[in-house]
Amino acid sequence: MNKNVAILGTQWGDEGKGKIVDSLTLENSYAVRYQGGHNAGHTLVINGEKIVLHLIPSGILHKNVTGIISNGVVISPIALYNEIKMLENKKFFIKDRLFISHSAPLILQYHVEMDIAREKKLGINALGTTGRGIGPAYEDKIARRALRVEDLKDEKKLSIRLEKIVDYYNHQLVSFYKQKSIDYKIILKNLLPSIDLIQGMIKDTTFILHNAIFHNKKIIFEGAQGSFLDIDHGTYPYVTSSNSTIGGLITGTGVGPKYLDYILGVTKAYTTRVGYGPFPTELFDDIDKHFSHKGHEFGSTTGRKRRTGWLDAVALCRSIKINSLSGLCITKLDVLDGLKEIKICIAYKNIKTLEINTSLNDCKNVEPIYEIHPGWVVKTSGIRKMTDLPAEARNYINRIEEITHIPVDMISTGPDRSDIILIRNPFFIKKQII
Ligand code: IMP
Repeated sequence: MNKNVAILGTQWGDEGKGKIVDSLTLENSYAVRYQGGHNAGHTLVINGEKIVLHLIPSGILHKNVTGIISNGVVISPIALYNEIKMLENKKFFIKDRLFISHSAPLILQYHVEMDIAREKKLGINALGTTGRGIGPAYEDKIARRALRVEDLKDEKKLSIRLEKIVDYYNHQLVSFYKQKSIDYKIILKNLLPSIDLIQGMIKDTTFILHNAIFHNKKIIFEGAQGSFLDIDHGTYPYVTSSNSTIGGLITGTGVGPKYLDYILGVTKAYTTRVGYGPFPTELFDDIDKHFSHKGHEFGSTTGRKRRTGWLDAVALCRSIKINSLSGLCITKLDVLDGLKEIKICIAYKNIKTLEINTSLNDCKNVEPIYEIHPGWVVKTSGIRKMTDLPAEARNYINRIEEITHIPVDMISTGPDRSDIILIRNPFFIKKQII
């Protein structure tokens, strides 16, 4: 039986990971967020009520689950405070079972101001960030000047360091970006309620996780964003600033690869992306309207309309390799209901050399080559058994397995926790990856 399962997105984010994590989480286990920040938006529907989590691991909504925000995450104390309060309003009390890494870098107001000012200055070359300060916060980490969660423990020292770093950023904001300067004292004042709230949660989360492993606890690692938003493996520079592929889990938690039993790749039955950047199978026609409307393809963090397109199996195969995936979960299958035909991109044609290519080396100058499959008219939403799916939908899933050479272990057929076809539960199958 598997103990430690990682769940991550194989596309450009928004694959529906939150719901999958929520549906696989077992009581008394651990749920871990390991990279990214509150740029993520994990939407869960529990008893008909929609809850969007940005920073707190989705699994924590189950009883007796310990939530961990580990060192790889960039943490905005104010966003964390707001999310804890939002959950309390919905009668989820998590304060005593959420731990945050002492070494996670902070996102503070100057990161947000810098993110927004830079995007403005880039004009038509903007990246389309979420404007949450993610990039600037990771820059501070790499530049070794970040304030980290542990720095919240001593207000006096925090104040001295804040004054210096705000001075550094004010030079850029005012002189280069022509923005207003910011006042470190206001930042500090605004931080105080969140410092009060999270003080007791600050821990060595690597130690907690290894202790959990020692005691045979089950752990779900929840990836944020998707593989092609990865800073190294994504469609650079149109990416986020963390490693959203599997490597980000290892460095972002201090849990080594030998402890991972199963890695689940979550893949939408089609493709979406928010923000700018290459997207070979992007559509601009009625099918785009169908995906947008039926799939409610609007960002859960920024509300922006997501770009949509057919499933890109070339990209998916690459993602499977980069992430050492054990199996796939196909989400939003029901969004394909009612389409006459369904396409899968199986190769790219380079528009300059006209060469056919099945590797995603440069997806900027390519056009997709499609396989066309018959669609289905019946409703698949809410179906919980493979045998209840129409034959065309089963063929579509089988074809994905054939192309990718890994099993589809789960299929999501609707937004609710229980709208799932569970073919093989990642926790209950034999360890198979390492
Ligand atoms: P940043 O992460 O805010 O710096 O944004 C960089 C790029 O990643 C932009 O294209 C965002 O739209 C995208 N992005 C960041 N987080 C998510 C997410 O959770 N889902 C989908 N796209 C995201």
